[in-house]
Amino acid sequence: MPMDTTNFPIESLRAESTPFYYYDLHLLDATLDKMKESSSFPGFHIHYAVKANSNPEILKRIAASGIGADTVSLGEIRAAIAAGFPAAKIVFAGVGKTDEEIAAAIEYEIGCFNAESDEEVGVIEEIAKSLGKKAPVALRINPEIDAHTHHYITTGLAENKFGIAMSLMPDVVEHCVNSEWIEFKGFHFHIGSQITDMTPYRILCEKINILQEEYPDLAIPTINVGGGLGIDYDNPEDHPIPDFDEFFNIFKNNLHLRPSQQLHFELGRALVAQCGTLITRVTFVKKGVNKQFVIVDGGMNALLRPALYQAHHKIENITSESEKTEVYDVAGPICESSDVFGENVQLPVTHRGDLIAIRSAGAYGEAMASSYNSRPIPVSKFSR
Ligand code: LLP
Repeated sequence: MPMDTTNFPIESLRAESTPFYYYDLHLLDATLDKMKESSSFPGFHIHYAVKANSNPEILKRIAASGIGADTVSLGEIRAAIAAGFPAAKIVFAGVGKTDEEIAAAIEYEIGCFNAESDEEVGVIEEIAKSLGKKAPVALRINPEIDAHTHHYITTGLAENKFGIAMSLMPDVVEHCVNSEWIEFKGFHFHIGSQITDMTPYRILCEKINILQEEYPDLAIPTINVGGGLGIDYDNPEDHPIPDFDEFFNIFKNNLHLRPSQQLHFELGRALVAQCGTLITRVTFVKKGVNKQFVIVDGGMNALLRPALYQAHHKIENITSESEKTEVYDVAGPICESSDVFGENVQLPVTHRGDLIAIRSAGAYGEAMASSYNSRPIPVSKFSR
């Protein structure tokens, strides 16, 4: 079944200049509703990982749903506040927060810093002291779990730039709890992204249980288990909304929360990926020796994931009326060999001027777009 264009008929799509991101806000709302329903357990709180998509319309919609925001820069904090997220529901992560970002976040009175090193805790402490305001800090711990996902987006394994190693953690906890300028909030974990097998999350729960047992006398108001829930890139129409019940139940059933302890999640992709589609137009259908190429007007500048992670996005010709199909390589206009959306893609017979939809592009699509080759960043359109 091709992309559902009920809320934005093909004729109106045809009239738009390309490439552009098309967002189905009805699907976004349905996804948010289902996520809220599936996570309605005591103490569970969701923060949207703004990095996945910081389009102002999308952010406003998500803020209006009442969840919090997970940010990684002052730019994201500002975007979240502008969209209506209350500062108290904003968490601020990232391995390289600058002094300016830390000071601004303290002034905004955000809900929590997720600190990634003892050095960072020291700087937060100094800046908090200079501003005369205590800073809320959770520690990002590296739980050494293999999330079995692409190596660029696996983050929970030993010794990488993210988080604090388990062996270094006790000293950093000491640092926080003994500081006059830090309010210790708890522990933060994030094991990777596009995780579709729930086993690593179950292992994470077990590790957190052990950690909590090792610190029976430490007050740990919050556990933050990060994000990473994956989506179905192969069959977006069969699974437009991820299996939130399965995901949240893993934590409900395996994590031993203490009485009144809060459990935070930072979901990005799972909330926004399926509602976004990159719409491009065919500039040429080019015959090679053994192959045919469909060249479209948006490439890795518009959607970087295939070039950067060899990611697969479903590709559809949404305007061809042909019943016959042919096999094509679908490529962008950028002067890089990796600027290919898909090889050997079966499409209805395709012509110059047809519209090609690259599905499941709502997360890390527009957010990672660039003006490489001096091409404009795609604009966005929304379902009516
Ligand atoms: N929390 C932390 C600390 C993170 O680093 C990330 C993502 C998230 C939450 C949200 O993860 P999600 O629920 O969206 O999987 N550009 C890559 C993904 C990079 C993910 C970076 N961190 C891609 O296009 O696949």
